[in-house]
Amino acid sequence: MERGLCKGLLAGALMSAVGLMGQSASAASEPVGKVLSEKAGILYPAVIAHRGASYDAPESTAPAYLLARDLGADYLELDLQRTRDGVLIALHDDNLKRTTNVAQRFPDRADQPVSSFTWEELKSLDAGTWFNTAHPERARPSFAGQKILTLDEVIDIAEGGQNKPGLYIETKQPKLFPGIEKDLKEKLRARGWLGEPAAKTNDSQHVHVASMPGRVVLQTFEKSSMELLQQEMPQVPKVLLLWLGNGSIEPKSTVPFAESGEKDKAAYYAKQEIKSKAEYESWLDWAKAHGALGVGPSSALTHGGDQSYADLVKPWMNQMAHEKGLIVHPYTVDEAVDFKKISDAGVDGFFTNRTAELLKFYDRPAKDSIDAILKRHGY
Ligand code: G3P
Ligand code: CA
Repeated sequence: MERGLCKGLLAGALMSAVGLMGQSASAASEPVGKVLSEKAGILYPAVIAHRGASYDAPESTAPAYLLARDLGADYLELDLQRTRDGVLIALHDDNLKRTTNVAQRFPDRADQPVSSFTWEELKSLDAGTWFNTAHPERARPSFAGQKILTLDEVIDIAEGGQNKPGLYIETKQPKLFPGIEKDLKEKLRARGWLGEPAAKTNDSQHVHVASMPGRVVLQTFEKSSMELLQQEMPQVPKVLLLWLGNGSIEPKSTVPFAESGEKDKAAYYAKQEIKSKAEYESWLDWAKAHGALGVGPSSALTHGGDQSYADLVKPWMNQMAHEKGLIVHPYTVDEAVDFKKISDAGVDGFFTNRTAELLKFYDRPAKDSIDAILKRHGY
């Protein structure tokens, strides 16, 4: 596959700081993040399909993951939760109200957490109609009735096409799911995603991340889950997700949104700053000391929106992460203006809802259109 060039090359001087300077003559001219990614077997720069191609199809459903895979995403991202009867599933929110018809199907239980439903019950929900209502310009009749997916079903999609993407799995609200890290290990092992990857093919036309050592990346916001992931799967690359406030990095100001006078949350988050450089550094040091190979910071997006958060991708932050040997994959970026700005600040890939747009930015546009791929799969 033709890899795109990083838009934000970092000075070779950083190489010495991470102890990579004498590795090879050519390494010194390469971005630090590229060297670090390749050392961990993680594709650089990484296109991480956030909940699948979730701008163009209902998040975390089959069309979203099939589309991401066939467009050429390097990784399929998913938020891992567990049903009452122990089935691992892909779902972001901790309840079902936003993305399913739970209020119609189980009116008395609509506020209950995902963990209180059995898999049989979750299977009966419509996880696609909300998308058609929320995004009529991208709606398709066939999205109605889409189902919540199990982790097994996402793995089936990852394995089922000519492109072979990796998996980028977040333990979501892990304190609600004691033991989920072990469950995940057992599932990945049973499906052959731990241990030595399959031999890499010579097919340069397709994604082959599934045959790289970093074919699975584990991610979490929770320090306790990072410790358990490291305990269960020490050999698998891990990323500590970073957030400002609420049990994560300490902000300079603790004025809550409701008292801030800001009109929307994106504007509020954009003005937030970390308490100090030392506070940021302490999170990087913790990540590094507990087995993380990278960090996943939030981004403030140019046009705001509900996935625009505090700017934790300032150049000095990315430089500090690289100096400590950590790669940087920010969430969740969808527009060219932000791909450019944040790449220039020195990151190593992105979580994106818009796989096709990020592939264009990295000069490796998808061969087929979104419409053609969705139609090919019957959507
Ligand atoms: O996992 C990276 C990013 O997805 C974190 O935010 O809330 O979309 O899971 P969230
Ligand atoms: Ca996530």
